[in-house]
Amino acid sequence: MCRHYIAGLCTPDHERRRSDLDLWIEEEEKSAVLSLLANVAPGGHKVPDAAPGSVIASPSKVHPNYYYQWVRDAAITVATIIHLYDDDPAGDEAGQMLEILDAYNKISHTIQHVDNPSGSFEDKLSGLGEPKFHVDGTAFTGNWGRPQRDGPALRALSLMLYMKVYNETHPISWSEGDGSWFDDLYDPDMPANSTIKADLEYVSHHWRESGFDLWEEVQGLHFFTAMVQLKALREGAKLATLFEDHGAAKWYQAQADEMTDFMPTFWNQDKGHLEETLNSGRSGLDCGLLLGAIHGTTVNSSDIFAPYSDEVLVSLLALVRDQRDRFPINSAPSPSDDEDDNVDLAELSGVGVGRYPEDVYDGYGTKPAGGNPWFLCTSSVAEILFRTAEQLSFRRSLLVTDRGLPFWSVLLPSHKLRVGKTYDVGSSVFDEAVERLKLAGDSFLTVVKDHTDAEGSLSEQFDRVNGFERGATDLTWSYGAFIQAVRARRRVM
Ligand code: NOJ
Ligand code: NOJ
Repeated sequence: MCRHYIAGLCTPDHERRRSDLDLWIEEEEKSAVLSLLANVAPGGHKVPDAAPGSVIASPSKVHPNYYYQWVRDAAITVATIIHLYDDDPAGDEAGQMLEILDAYNKISHTIQHVDNPSGSFEDKLSGLGEPKFHVDGTAFTGNWGRPQRDGPALRALSLMLYMKVYNETHPISWSEGDGSWFDDLYDPDMPANSTIKADLEYVSHHWRESGFDLWEEVQGLHFFTAMVQLKALREGAKLATLFEDHGAAKWYQAQADEMTDFMPTFWNQDKGHLEETLNSGRSGLDCGLLLGAIHGTTVNSSDIFAPYSDEVLVSLLALVRDQRDRFPINSAPSPSDDEDDNVDLAELSGVGVGRYPEDVYDGYGTKPAGGNPWFLCTSSVAEILFRTAEQLSFRRSLLVTDRGLPFWSVLLPSHKLRVGKTYDVGSSVFDEAVERLKLAGDSFLTVVKDHTDAEGSLSEQFDRVNGFERGATDLTWSYGAFIQAVRARRRVM
C-alpha cells in the first residue's frame, strides 16, 4: 500500500525501491550490531587479546593498523551500545552489553591514570588529552597528532548516559545505596578522582586551548570538539547539581555559558556555512560539522547548532554539493537507480560523502586528491535529515529564515518559500518537507547499501572511482553511525 499522498510519490517503482531498502536495513542493522560487538571486549571475537572494556577502532592490524583503542571511537561506540541496550534491555545481546559497559566504566578510570606522551593525570590532567592507547590499555608512544581534546568530553557524555540508563533499568541496586558504583563515576571530591568528574575538570579548564581535530590532522579550535565539550559541560552541570556538588555545577554551567557565546564564531557569514576549524586555510566544510551537531546536542532540544538548525542544514547542503562533484562514483549510475522513478531530490539526492573537500587520506596512506567517501559520513547525512524530519513533527511547524532558505528551497523546489513565514502542520509545504526529508535520508542510506559488500561488512571508506570498500576493514564507527541513522529513521517512519 502506498504511504505517500503527495502526487507522484506513489509509483510502483518507488514503492518497490522503498521496500528493498527496508528489507536490507533490517538485515544490515542486525549484522551491524554483531559486527560492532565483535570489536569490543569482553566478548568480541575479533579482539581476543584486548583488555575488558576496550573498543578497537578496527581489527585491521596492518595496512592500515587500526588495532588500538581510540578514546573518541570508543566513547562514541559505547554511547551506541547504551542506546541499543536501552532500546531493548531484554534483547539477546543485553547481557553482553551490560558487561561491556561495566568494563568500559572501569577501564576508563584506569586509562585516565596512564602516563602518556600528552602528559599525566597528576600534571593538571594533561594525560587525558591522549587520543589512543594499545589494546591492553598501555600508552602508545609513537608520533601522533596530540592532544585531542574531544576524547574526555565524549567519554564523560557516554559515562553520564550510562549512569542515567543504568539507573533507570536497575533502580533497586541504586536505591539500596551501592554508593561505590556511582562514587567511582561521580564524586564531588577534589582533586577529582571519579572518572566523570576528572573528564569534566579537564574539559572545563582546557576548552580554550587548541588541539588536534577529530581527524587527527590539524591543530586549532574545532567545531566538533567544541560541540561535544559544550554538551559535556551542560550535562555535567546537571549531574553535579544532582550530587549536590553546587560549586562545580556553577563552574561547569559558567563555562558552558561562555562556550555558548563563543560558538557563533564557527559560523562564516560570507561563506554561508559553518567552519570545522577556525583560521585553518581549509574551506571549513567538513563531516565533523554533522558529527558535532549529532554528538553535541540532545534530541529535539533547542541546543545551539542542533542537527536541524539552519546553520547545520545549509552546511550539510554545501558539503553534499562539494562531494557530489568531487567523486566520480557520485555521478556513476547506481544499482538502485531507476529511470522510471519520478521522485527527484536533485541536490539532496544521496551521494557518497567523505570527511572534507581537501582530504588526501585514502585509507592506507596519503596522496594528492586521495580522499574518498566514508560510510560514517554518508550515514551521518542520513541521520541529520531524519532528525530534521523528527524535529519538524515534534514542533508541528517550519519557520523559514533567511539563513535556512538555501536548504529549504532546494528541498522544496516546487514551492516559493517566504522568509519569516511559519508553515504549520497540514500545509503542503510542511507535509512535503517532512516527506522529502525522509526520502532524502533514505537516498543516502541507499548509497551505503550500494557500497556494502555481500557479507554486510563496512570498512572505513569506499573508493571514489570504483565504489569498492577500502581502508580499515570492519570499522567499528562505520557500524555505529549506520545503526544511529537507522534508529533516527525508525523514529520518523
Ligand atoms: C591516520 C589518521 O587517523 C587519519 O585521520 C589521517 O588522515 C591519516 N593518518 C593520514 O595522516
Ligand atoms: C582516523 C579518523 O580520522 C579518526 O577520526 C579515527 O579516530 C581513527 N581513524 C580511528 O578510527
